[in-house]
Amino acid sequence: MPGGGPLDSGGSLDEYSRAPRVCGVSSARPKEAAHPGPLFRTPDSALKFPFNLRRALRGRVSPTTTMSTPKPTSTPKPTPSDPDSGESEASSAGDERHPLAMETLVALCASRGFIFPSSEVYGGINGFWDYGPLGVELKNNLKAAWWQRMVRQRTDVVGIDSAIVSHPRVWEASGHVEHFSDPMVDCRTCKRRFRADQLQGERCPEAPKKRALSDCDLTEARDFNLMLQTQIGASVEAQVTAYLRPETCQPIFTNFKRVRESARQKVPFGIAQIGKAFRNEITPRNFTFRSREFEQAEMEFFCHPSQREEWFEAWREERMRFHADIGFDTAHLRFRPHAPDELAHYANAAEDVDFLFPFGWQEIEGIHDRGDWDLSRHSEYSGKDLIVTDEETKERYTPMVIETSMGVDRTCLALLVDAYREEEIEGGETRKVMRLSPGIAPIKAAVLPLSKKLGEPARALHADLGRSLNAFYDDAGNIGRRYRRQDEVGTPFCLTYDFDSADDGKVTVRERDSMVQTRVPIEGVVAYVRDRVEAAI
Ligand code: GAP
Repeated sequence: MPGGGPLDSGGSLDEYSRAPRVCGVSSARPKEAAHPGPLFRTPDSALKFPFNLRRALRGRVSPTTTMSTPKPTSTPKPTPSDPDSGESEASSAGDERHPLAMETLVALCASRGFIFPSSEVYGGINGFWDYGPLGVELKNNLKAAWWQRMVRQRTDVVGIDSAIVSHPRVWEASGHVEHFSDPMVDCRTCKRRFRADQLQGERCPEAPKKRALSDCDLTEARDFNLMLQTQIGASVEAQVTAYLRPETCQPIFTNFKRVRESARQKVPFGIAQIGKAFRNEITPRNFTFRSREFEQAEMEFFCHPSQREEWFEAWREERMRFHADIGFDTAHLRFRPHAPDELAHYANAAEDVDFLFPFGWQEIEGIHDRGDWDLSRHSEYSGKDLIVTDEETKERYTPMVIETSMGVDRTCLALLVDAYREEEIEGGETRKVMRLSPGIAPIKAAVLPLSKKLGEPARALHADLGRSLNAFYDDAGNIGRRYRRQDEVGTPFCLTYDFDSADDGKVTVRERDSMVQTRVPIEGVVAYVRDRVEAAI
């Protein structure tokens, strides 16, 4: 059958502007978009395992630490909010509206080829997003910066790339089969599913018009596991249920012994991995913020029990430094330590790195002291010894684990939010500009010949740049418009090849943020751009 239809949609571009959604499967927008305040749902920290159920049901207030004093800029002012209570954060963020509307960013991301709905021609599929030509460059740059910093620049961290599907016992040992769930209720009338801990303010979309849920025919709360399943095996009878990993860290634990021995690492050391994770989120929303398929960049650092506090502190500082170095305005970042009763029973400490999104302060990374839980559990379930021996003292112990877990898609989204500006320039004009750090920007330099007649030498310059960085070529339209197009996608340098270039051997380099133009010799311009890009991270 040709065509298609929205599949559990809401992940499409008009997530922010459609008619109210009906019975869970429709092309209508999610309910919160109908509210006048910012889009919001319970903070992510309330959903993650193993903190999810207890926290989600509690809705408590936790202390927060802001990284630095907010600067007076055109960008948002941090809003004090309760990170644990979705509704109160929504209203407090609503009092001081973030200057960037998500609709603006979502539209720009689609029109310029950063991010758009997956399967868009079929109406989209909720919680799944595709990265376009600029989005994939941005995401790859972020992942490369992370890998460089976390793996290559260190002697005590090594990387792996594990399979997405693991032995099903892995997820029994980790506790995900039993506990990675949200409490859900179903409405017998409209067949819609709601989170049991978020019923306040919900409305059944059935007639009589949008009645309060208190009048609905709701089932008892049941736990709904968030892991996506797949069947493995050629014949139906012999098929086994397996899971698409809900976090990338578990294969790090199951590979601990093999990696330690093959890489000849001694505790303390870390194992890092970047890769896809899948969660069947009940209500994916806020663009890519809460998706069903996303990427994580995780590092598990194994240390002696006596050093866990020290390493937690060191990684906490290092991760915030990384975010500052990739260009975040540090006034829009904060640490949010988890309160003692938010922690899993085996965890010593956990802190989120929060970013101020237009929909409030939300987590982009978690730093967790996981203790020896994971290694002990895998040891118990697999029957394999994951203990280490200290060569000097001969002490035998299970290492403690300090985890840093960054959401790649969320951090990309936060980078775009932070970088976006609408600025007044000379002549009363307004320009849209993405002030992305040159190291993270998708295109590093655009070559803009002043006339199509200058195409040959200009293309040669583009080819030179393309050998070491991502360059773009544009000879269409007036030069001012071409600058604006590059500003909008965050290109830090525009190189104009003009009618004097052949004679003086120079091009004009126009810098995105200051808009200052400098004549630079053609033979040195690749190094000129590369030096500035490399210095940026
Ligand atoms: N291994 C620990 C762990 O997975 P988490 O806090 O559940 O911890 C870590 O996830 C990071 O992964 C979060 O800080 C967030 O950036 C990202 N993340 C989690 N769920 C996500 C989702 N549904 N969509 C996008 N990113 C998500």
